[in-house]
Amino acid sequence: MSDFVPIQSDLNEKPDARGDSGPSVYIRTYGCQMNVSDSQTIESLLADAGYRFADSLDEADVALINTCAVREHAETRALGQLADLSRLKKTKPHAVIGILGCVAQARKREILDAMPFVDLVVGPDAYRKLPALLEERMISPPGSPGLLETVLLREELYDDIVPRHRGGVTAFVTVMRGCDKFCSFCIVPRTRGRERSRPLPSILREVEALVSQGVRDVMLLGQNVDSYRWEGRTFADCLSEVAGIDGLARVRYMTSHPSDISERLLDVMAGNPKICPYLHLPIQAGSDRVLELMNRPYTRAQYLKLVEAARVRLPQIALSTDIIVGFPSETEEDFRQTLDVVREVEYDTAFTFKYSVRPGTKAERLEDDVPEAAKVERLERLIAIQQEISRRRNLAQVGRQTEILIEHEAPKDAGMWTGRTPDYRPAVISKNGERIGDLLPVRLTELVGFTFRAERL
Ligand code: 5AD
Ligand code: SF4
Repeated sequence: MSDFVPIQSDLNEKPDARGDSGPSVYIRTYGCQMNVSDSQTIESLLADAGYRFADSLDEADVALINTCAVREHAETRALGQLADLSRLKKTKPHAVIGILGCVAQARKREILDAMPFVDLVVGPDAYRKLPALLEERMISPPGSPGLLETVLLREELYDDIVPRHRGGVTAFVTVMRGCDKFCSFCIVPRTRGRERSRPLPSILREVEALVSQGVRDVMLLGQNVDSYRWEGRTFADCLSEVAGIDGLARVRYMTSHPSDISERLLDVMAGNPKICPYLHLPIQAGSDRVLELMNRPYTRAQYLKLVEAARVRLPQIALSTDIIVGFPSETEEDFRQTLDVVREVEYDTAFTFKYSVRPGTKAERLEDDVPEAAKVERLERLIAIQQEISRRRNLAQVGRQTEILIEHEAPKDAGMWTGRTPDYRPAVISKNGERIGDLLPVRLTELVGFTFRAERL
């Protein structure tokens, strides 16, 4: 999915009650929602192999880090975290340290050479081998060379593995893996391999199982969901079938590609109140020249038409995007065109990034010639403009009648619930006998920071 809201999640919040005798694993997850979903698959594989889950690094026998390589900063941070995990070996020389995910895939043997304390390097298509690799590693003497497993498998969908759901009313469900778009800046096609879709029936089975565990809101994940194909069915079919599942209140998805999203998908969204009016539609840049260099095969005019088509069908739609500043050869004029699009579209949220060279990408051959100071300055200008737009769009919601899905207790106030509107705006409301998972008709009364206060209708 274009991922990719950068988030850090610690999947160990709710350890499984499963057994208490096996070795315990601590997993730290960085990167996109796809990584969060993958970590749940990994947890499921390890739980079946008899592992327990530790709340903290110090309690663990095995420490794994699931990493993101999409930008240089994410990769550097992942490698720094790996060094942090290595402190486990000071107290437990037999502890196993492993790196998983996109950095493992991108850097492979380099990691083992540079960081001799690393025991495992396992890429995104090799997680099935984790239990066997861990076992092998645990019986080998400390100091043995680390094990590497990074073959990309076109057929790997982990379709038969039920990711470990950690409770709560929201869940991620992966519908496709990999990406064939080869945007010139992006490492994902190299770290996650070719595009492949899960069979629709098993997606539906997974969502039904989640609903039976209390899930009310699922986010369907794929690097480019619009490429979903299974036996002639498209993502629009997948979305509408998932929305048809009884007991599910909401379905959302991420990420779309402007060249592939279909009008039919927008029609399906408009015709189904369970499908949230939310679209993450990365534009990346506003200049046609830069878009071409990025291998993003649409023009700014085509993109704007698409936004209009979405807003005509779904007037309440919330739009978010990803933008890169400082792509090779980006001039001040190119950048102004990005700002123009941002002002014209008026996104609700924009995820903004400074370009960084990724090894093995096509853009690696272009000179990274926008000075760092110019990248920083452009990013700051972009963020300032977007913040103002986000605030204005949020303020325009005050007074609106809508519905929130109650997700959990407000973190700092046990007397309040936190929920979200269908267009994914967070809101708090005082408790009044409702339960987590209820849909509550409300009016948004006030905006505090980025969170609304709501009153029941
Ligand atoms: N440099 C900066 N940003 C990048 N992204 C992907 N690759 C790079 C890169 N090399 C951004 C894109 C993508 C998001 C997940 O990360 O905007 O949509
Ligand atoms: Fe998204 Fe393009 Fe990367 Fe594919 S190659 S994951 S479409 S940014």
